[in-house]
Amino acid sequence: MNQTNIALLGFGVVGSGVYRILTENHDDLNHREVLDLHVTRILIRDAANVRDFALAPQELFTADYGEILNDDSISIVVECMGGVEPARSFILQALRAGKSVVSSNKEVISKHWHEFDAEAKARDAGLYYEATVGGGIPILRTIMDSMQANNITRVMGIINGTTNYILTKMSEEGLDFDEVLHEAQSLGYAETDSTADVEGYDATYKLSILASLAFHAHLPVSVIPREGITKLSRRDFAIARQLGYEIKLLAIGKKHGSQIEVHVHPTMLPKTHPLAAVRGVFNAIFLTGHAANDIMLYGRGAGSMPTASAVVSDIICAVHRAGRHRYITFANAEELSTAVQLLENYESRFCARLLVEDAPGVLASVAGVLAKHNVSLRSVLQPGESDTTDARLTLLTHNAAAQSVRAALAEIAGLSCVRAVESLLHVEE
Ligand code: NDP
Ligand code: HSE
Repeated sequence: MNQTNIALLGFGVVGSGVYRILTENHDDLNHREVLDLHVTRILIRDAANVRDFALAPQELFTADYGEILNDDSISIVVECMGGVEPARSFILQALRAGKSVVSSNKEVISKHWHEFDAEAKARDAGLYYEATVGGGIPILRTIMDSMQANNITRVMGIINGTTNYILTKMSEEGLDFDEVLHEAQSLGYAETDSTADVEGYDATYKLSILASLAFHAHLPVSVIPREGITKLSRRDFAIARQLGYEIKLLAIGKKHGSQIEVHVHPTMLPKTHPLAAVRGVFNAIFLTGHAANDIMLYGRGAGSMPTASAVVSDIICAVHRAGRHRYITFANAEELSTAVQLLENYESRFCARLLVEDAPGVLASVAGVLAKHNVSLRSVLQPGESDTTDARLTLLTHNAAAQSVRAALAEIAGLSCVRAVESLLHVEE
């Protein structure tokens, strides 16, 4: 049995987990997969400053990528550094050298996928990125290797562990956003810059990869509207609870013929919806295929060992498929695939919260503007409050075009009886 030499780029949360699995499970993998996998080099920024010296021998560490690139005995490069540069250059150089690349870095894959894909095909090298979406959940291979019979019409999921952890704590324990973010960071779920998580960028990178594979058309990050969770308040959770809903950061992709809608935002889900029950760092993804109908995958979306599980599975695939790697067959250019029409004015239900003057005729004025924009109301709630002159209105709409709802609310915000449009949330049933 030939030995496979592997280099890790990065030895943080993910890289150290990959090393642990490859060393602790070496004999089992050898037995089950007939593979002899060895990490022979680990790149970090400063080889004299390893975070966990006890885990791997010091002689494996280097800060010089050339030692990996020019080592012909290394056939697989595992990138788990994060960020765009130097990750992008290192991946391109490895592929050009004919080495297969496995990456957990959704930012670099979603933004530079087209470049990597072209290089991998040209050099007959493998490009694998299962860990980029859903951590330990085998979602990408499910789409590529198990759902081929289907025309997939919907992907919808919770694909960021940090925000789900924060939203769960805010909902269940009434905690403030900042307190919980700190906890998520210390548990190793959050990105180095937590903006990527809480402002929804991380989910957008993942949705770009997920929806592109599901709908077989490249949907770049730049076309995905995004909204994070930082504006959510205790009041949003109180209203949601009162109405029987949870609030989750959802990534949504739907295909209607040749039209595709993709968006990431906080969403109200009925408590009875399976995604509403996904708590903490867990992720879950719904797929709808024309033949299989609905399936849902659930698991740990972040953390060292779950993510490493997906990375090691990619390493095994890369070795088994050496010389006959599979590549995506849709046009993978930087822009949106020409075969696709992006549906920007998609339909959804919405929940808007307004602070208004507590006076006769206010509701009629608000309803009049909604009607003008063809937005139909499903229900209106005015919780009793002690304020004497102001009132809070919660409006739930029927399905309405997203742009019409936004235009109506912009007009409503300008009414003299309206103090503020405090929030606008999507609602999925
Ligand atoms: P960490 O910050 O824990 O680790 C990053 C590692 O990369 C560190 O060892 C760091 O070295 C090294 N590194 C970073 N930049 C360089 C550089 N320029 N040159 C050499 N080494 C470098 O990140 P994670 O392990 O959490 O994440 C890695 C990737 O995996 C990211 O893309 C992330 O989005 C993704 N991911 C993370 C998950 C998680 O749960 N954490 C889950 C799924 C994906 P040093 O220690 O010297 O700074
Ligand atoms: N920061 C990411 C998350 C890591 O919280 O989901 C997993 O991709």
